[in-house]
Amino acid sequence: MAIIAPSLLAADFLHLQGACDLMNDSEAEWLHLDVMDGRFVPNISFGIPVISCLRKGTQKIFDVHLMIEEPEKFTHSFQEAGANILTVHVEACRHLHRNLQQIRGLGMKAGIALNPHTPLSEIEEVIQEADLICIMSVNPGFGGQKFISASLDKIKRLKQMIVSKGLDTLIEVDGGVTLDNAPEIIKAGADVLVAGNTVFSAQDPKGVISKLKKIA
Ligand code: DX5
Ligand code: ZN
Repeated sequence: MAIIAPSLLAADFLHLQGACDLMNDSEAEWLHLDVMDGRFVPNISFGIPVISCLRKGTQKIFDVHLMIEEPEKFTHSFQEAGANILTVHVEACRHLHRNLQQIRGLGMKAGIALNPHTPLSEIEEVIQEADLICIMSVNPGFGGQKFISASLDKIKRLKQMIVSKGLDTLIEVDGGVTLDNAPEIIKAGADVLVAGNTVFSAQDPKGVISKLKKIA
């Protein structure tokens, strides 16, 4: 059964308590938190103080997705804010191995995200240092985009890489996940589904989470 990670980016920022209540009241295990700096991606979202406040609203796992340059400068701050998982982009890290060790050294799980154009070979030498690989199935920066179908084959190949190395690294899929495509994404090998608009734009977000949870 896949882990469901609603993405706060699609929530109503005027009512963040409502997003926490939804987390507490639903079967979603992780809250996905998209941090953007306007440099790595062409958008700015929210950052450390907002995450600190959210931490008071729910005990669920905070899955922080850093779409920022030089993420190593902020590792400690995100840990203090309450991140449980910290994911950095391979494209933003000159010393990825060191960055992952830094994250784990602070007691968090370490994730690596890959943009749609980035080949899996980029992580082959460091995958054992990561707890999670996030396959971006849209170009990062915005919610509500269409799932890039070539991601399915990438997920399958990543699954093979993980199995062949005897690892238990989780595969997270982020971008354009819907109730319609979730079954094939899970079949391809995904362990964690990020869902922004599919959850927060729904009439019944809790019901959608429950439906996603029942798939496969
Ligand atoms: C995109 C973010 C995603 C986004 C997903 O840059 O990393 O997490 O919130 O939103 P949906 O599910 O609406 O595509
Ligand atoms: Zn994300």
